[in-house]
Amino acid sequence: MIVTTKKLFEFAYGKYAIGAYNINNLEQIMGLFHGNLDSKAPFIIQISKGARSYTDKHMLEAMIRAADEIFPDAIFAVHLDHGDEQTCYDCIKSGFYSSVMIDASNEPFEENIAITKRVVDAAHTKNIVVEAELGQLGGVEEHVAVNEADAKLTDPDQAKEFVDRTGIDSLACAIGTSHGAFKFSGTQGLRFDVLAEIQKRLPGFPLVMHGSSSVPQEEVARINAAGGNLKGAKGVDANQFKKAATLGVTKINIDTDGRLVWTRVHREYFRDHPEVFDLRLPGKVFMSEYAKFIAEKNEKLGSAGQIDFIRKHL
Ligand code: G3H
Ligand code: 13P
Ligand code: ZN
Repeated sequence: MIVTTKKLFEFAYGKYAIGAYNINNLEQIMGLFHGNLDSKAPFIIQISKGARSYTDKHMLEAMIRAADEIFPDAIFAVHLDHGDEQTCYDCIKSGFYSSVMIDASNEPFEENIAITKRVVDAAHTKNIVVEAELGQLGGVEEHVAVNEADAKLTDPDQAKEFVDRTGIDSLACAIGTSHGAFKFSGTQGLRFDVLAEIQKRLPGFPLVMHGSSSVPQEEVARINAAGGNLKGAKGVDANQFKKAATLGVTKINIDTDGRLVWTRVHREYFRDHPEVFDLRLPGKVFMSEYAKFIAEKNEKLGSAGQIDFIRKHL
C-alpha cells in the first residue's frame, strides 16, 4: 500500500526513523520488499533522476506497482530523491509518487525558498508532500576552518524561516554527512549539536538525514579482497540512528550501502564461479543478501516491527 511520507512520519516522530532506500532495478525492488516484510517495517522507496533515466521512468513505476500487488502487506511511500523543479512537476503530474524532494540547496537562500514554494504549491493541490533541503552536504573537510565548515551545515534560524515561508512537509538538514562511500575524511562525525538546535526551533517537524550509509568495513574488506579498490571508504555509525530519531529525524537515506552489497555479491560470485555466465545465479544471491541487509538496517533505525501498529491506525 502506497502512503505519503508525512503519514509515516506521524507514527515515527521522536521514536524511530524510516529507512529511505534508493532503487534502480528489479533485483533491488524484490530484495527491498522481502527485507521490509521480513522485518515488519514501513519504508520509503527513493527514485533519483539517474534511476528514472537508467532504463525508463515507466519501467520503474511498473515494477513498483507490480511489487505492490505481489506484496499486499507492504506499507511504503514512493519518493523522488533530489529532484530539480521540472522533475518534481513531472512526478507530481504522474500521480504515482506520494512524495517529492525539491533540491535547490545549491541556490542562494531566497532562490531556494522561491523554487521550493512553487513546488509545494503544485504538490499540495494533489495531496503530494514535499521534502526540501537547506545547507550543503559533503565537502566538510578537516582542514577547513571551523566557521567555514559550519557555514555549510544547516543554520537553525534559517531552517525555521525556510520551513515557515515554503510550507514544506519535511526538511533535509546538513549535519556533517556526505553522499557516497568516502565520508568523514578525518575525525568528524554527526553534528548532533546542530540537529538539537534545529529541533528546538522546529519542534515536532520531521527532519531528514541524507548521506547516511554506514559503509561497513567488513563489506569494504570483502569487496577489496575480491578485486575491488575502495581503500579509505568510511560511513556513518548506524548505532547513532536512534539518537538522531529522538532529535526529530524521521527519514534516513541509504543508497551507497546497498550498492556495496551488490558489488560484494557480484565480485565474490564471479571470483568463486569463473565458469558461470547465468545472470540469475548471482541475481538470486543478491536479492537474498539485499533483503537481509534491509532487515538489519531497519533494526538499527528502529522501524523494524512497526508495520502492524501502522496498519491498525492508518
Ligand atoms: O543522493 C544520491 C543518491 O545516492 C542517488 O544516486 O543519483 O546516482 O542515482 P544517483
Ligand atoms: P548515501 O550515499 O550515504 O547512501 O546517501 C544516500 C542519499 O542521501 C540519497 O539521497
Ligand atoms: Zn541524498
